[in-house]
Amino acid sequence: MIEKSDILIIGGGIAGLRAALTASKFCKVTVLLKGRIGESATEKAQGGIAAAIDQIKDSTLYHLEDTLDAGAGLCDEEAVRILVNEGVDRVKELIQMGAQFDRAETEGGGGFALALEGAHKRRRILHAGDQTGMEIEKTLGYTLLKEGLAEVAAETPGISLIIENGRCLGVHAQDLKTGEVKTYLAKATILATGGLCQVYLYTTNPTVATGDGVAMAYRAGAEVQDMEFIQFHPTALVQFTEFSDIVALPQFLISEAVRGEGGILLNNRGERFMEKYHVKMELAPRDVVSRAIFEEMRATGADHVYLSLVGISAEKITKRFPLIYKTCLERGLDITRDNIPVAPAAHYSMGGVRTDLEGRTNIHGLYAAGECSSLGVHGANRLASNSLLDGLVFGHRAALSARLQIMDFEFNSNIKLDAPKFESSKLKEVEIQRYKLVIKSAMWQGTGIIRSAETLNAALHRLEIVEKQIGNAPISFEEQELMNMLLAAKLITRAALDRTESRGAHYRSDHPKRDDPNWIRHLTYKT
Ligand code: FAD
Ligand code: SIN
Repeated sequence: MIEKSDILIIGGGIAGLRAALTASKFCKVTVLLKGRIGESATEKAQGGIAAAIDQIKDSTLYHLEDTLDAGAGLCDEEAVRILVNEGVDRVKELIQMGAQFDRAETEGGGGFALALEGAHKRRRILHAGDQTGMEIEKTLGYTLLKEGLAEVAAETPGISLIIENGRCLGVHAQDLKTGEVKTYLAKATILATGGLCQVYLYTTNPTVATGDGVAMAYRAGAEVQDMEFIQFHPTALVQFTEFSDIVALPQFLISEAVRGEGGILLNNRGERFMEKYHVKMELAPRDVVSRAIFEEMRATGADHVYLSLVGISAEKITKRFPLIYKTCLERGLDITRDNIPVAPAAHYSMGGVRTDLEGRTNIHGLYAAGECSSLGVHGANRLASNSLLDGLVFGHRAALSARLQIMDFEFNSNIKLDAPKFESSKLKEVEIQRYKLVIKSAMWQGTGIIRSAETLNAALHRLEIVEKQIGNAPISFEEQELMNMLLAAKLITRAALDRTESRGAHYRSDHPKRDDPNWIRHLTYKT
């Protein structure tokens, strides 16, 4: 089956939905989703979306400065300027579409309750309790679906991009409900497939975050950059997990906003420790807090530290963090009384498919936006709550720029379509799970919070063994996904080996210093 549209969007998180809404104003749009509607990182976002809407105490200039500081010298300043300036307008549009953010009567905040998170010098995080992403996704998705503005195909993951004469003409995708491989032709294609942190053993990311977009684009000849920069969130709930769950189940996040409201970190001996590591203590940049926790866990021989909410009233906890409160309670913890066992988990990829400020990749007709893309807006370390904003701003821009691409373009009737023939996997389900587990533990141990040439080479070696064992001709989507994870894991590890310095989220124990003379540059890779 062949379907044609003007703009095809692969992925339906904040970046894909925003791109679809923009594109639907001027052309026929199709959106492919890997899972069901709402299965995305966007849906899980807790803390909120950063925007300098407080014109008295805040400014876009302060937001720019904080983003550049967090990015540790690798941000593209023009990209950040666009993010913070256009971000304010995109957030206001979201509110006009009906997004309900928490309100408070504070001077300058436009009636919104603005939260504080790590490395922000002002309160600027709009939030909907601790389920901000769900509120945003609901608002964008409802607007799109209610008015039938796009064709949406759920459970239809993209497998391979269609490239002819150097131009992207869409994607082959498998309808997981029927097993049929379908061809989606488009005059322009926007990748918005989200992140890849499922390549790590411990991650906050949803099961769909297996790096499909990066892998598809890389195989098709697109450039990827900044792959070594993986952000580890300091505070994921440490929970007892069955073996089968480890393979995919995300760790439940305890939002940074909890520390913004006064939550403190204690080691296994009950000592507050962040003062040893940073003047901003619990609100230091994420990479600093994650490494500090890692260090304390090592020093005390524990697999977690504690987050204590002792200074926050029970009323505030239940009102401000209802999801966190309820989820912890279901797991036997009353966080109005009990400390929360937490440890870092892989959370966000600063790297991805390289684009310019308009979302264009090096392949004609192929665009990327959101977490699967990389345009230097986050540098070596993303500022908290800037990712939703990134998807909103650059999803919109990618759709606007794709508009130019679709004008005067007609499909050639002789396009060569070599659709993959998928059937049942040659590998058994249990083998696929086992290989995934090897990839995830190799990455956690070797390409984790603290790396060195020795650990990275060991990880690469394990990944290469998996590669030899599984071959390179997938015959089912499950095998394709495994290969995508493997490729993403190799790209991260290779880049982490090549960058012989420490910067932002990339920390090398054998090169512990930042090396500006040699390393104020991006690492870019291409097949
Ligand atoms: P996603 O929202 O992940 O959407 C990706 C989409 O692509 C999904 O629809 C998926 O089905 C689809 N997809 C994947 N592969 C394929 C394929 N092969 N074919 C077709 N479709 C595919 N950021 C903030 O700014 N503030 C926060 O408070 C915040 N909290 C977070 C909390 C958690 C637990 C997590 C995991 C992340 C959080 N982040 C937060 C980060 C932020 O949520 C994500 O970076 C952002 O939502 C990514 O948006 P996206 O549209 O790029 O991708
Ligand atoms: C959180 O709520 O701590 C996540 C925020 C983010 O990833 O930006």
